[in-house]
Amino acid sequence: MNIIPERVFSGVQPTGNLHLGNYLGAIKRFVELQDSHDCIYCVVDLHAITNVLQDPVELAANIREVTAAFIASGIDPEKHIVFNQSQVKEHAELAWLFSCVARMGWMNRMTQFKEKAGKDREKASVGLFTYPALMAADILAYRATHVPVGEDQKQHLELTRDIAQKFNHDYSDRIESLGLGVPMQVGDETVNGYFPLTEPLIGGPAARVMSLRDGSKKMSKSDPSDLSRIVMTDDADTIGKKIRKAKSDADALPSEVEGLEGRPEADNLVGIFAALMETNKAGVLKDFGGAEFSKFKPALAELAAERVGPIASEMRRLQSDPSEIDSILKKGSDRARDIAAQTLADAKEIIGFIGARG
Ligand code: TYM
Repeated sequence: MNIIPERVFSGVQPTGNLHLGNYLGAIKRFVELQDSHDCIYCVVDLHAITNVLQDPVELAANIREVTAAFIASGIDPEKHIVFNQSQVKEHAELAWLFSCVARMGWMNRMTQFKEKAGKDREKASVGLFTYPALMAADILAYRATHVPVGEDQKQHLELTRDIAQKFNHDYSDRIESLGLGVPMQVGDETVNGYFPLTEPLIGGPAARVMSLRDGSKKMSKSDPSDLSRIVMTDDADTIGKKIRKAKSDADALPSEVEGLEGRPEADNLVGIFAALMETNKAGVLKDFGGAEFSKFKPALAELAAERVGPIASEMRRLQSDPSEIDSILKKGSDRARDIAAQTLADAKEIIGFIGARG
């Protein structure tokens, strides 16, 4: 537990094909946290160029699309902060400091890098390799204590904690002498550190939404099959078609959650239903235990269209006025920069750079 004011930070890459996994695993939970926390939500555009060359026009459209999805889902950019990463250059500068704290061995363990780089690692960008240092900078520029994400980001958040912990430890005397330490719990001890040990918020029935075509692969923006994912802009007919074609198995749904074991596709569809319905898998099986997929799938399609439809139409409305979105991002970036600049100045002062505080 950190004895530092609680603050939520999270980010979504503007790489197109925003899907139901992004919504249920992340964005929907961002919305829920607004009542209890100060929240900062970021369109992480600097991350979007780590893996593939982005078309400049499409990149801008995708940045606006994610922003529109945040707002259409219910994020309030007045009460909280919504911005795009590249407008706050402190992220990139703090990432440099962190790339000197993180160790090669830590980065080498990142499974997302291994997956994305594929067999030909020599051809992967250096940015793809150091990506987690930038992600740590995103979070720690705001000294965020809580980060809602899907299950696939767990390892990156562990690395963020490792970076914070090593920085706090390496510079502990200096942090102490500058009076910048904040008490925080590390194991059984309370120590003074500058960066909090951020806690991931991962959970619920949709922490890992799987592909509709293959229950062993996660739903992703880059899957070549459009049928593998429901995107936020799909209309009711398309959602219906994708769910009808979703892979399932020959048995009826079980009445107990244990009965989903070894049935990844059934487990996935029940999890999606539960998250959309704001219940858990047991709750869904109470109503649908014993039902065949021929009955369950239409109910799921109807529910998904009912939940996604209004968000999609609000997204379209917002996207029709790009200047409004750009102005939200500009205002959000100005507010974010005020916080991030202070953190960066402190971090540079701690390290010992001259003129860190301007
Ligand atoms: P990204 O853009 O790939 O995904 C955005 C969010 O969606 C979640 N997600 C899923 N959740 C459940 N099931 C799925 N199939 C699924 N696919 C994606 C992700 O876990 C994520 O929460 N590295 C991050 C972006 C990032 C970030 C950050 C996140 C950059 N800096 C700082 C938090 C804090 C990413 O690539 O997410």
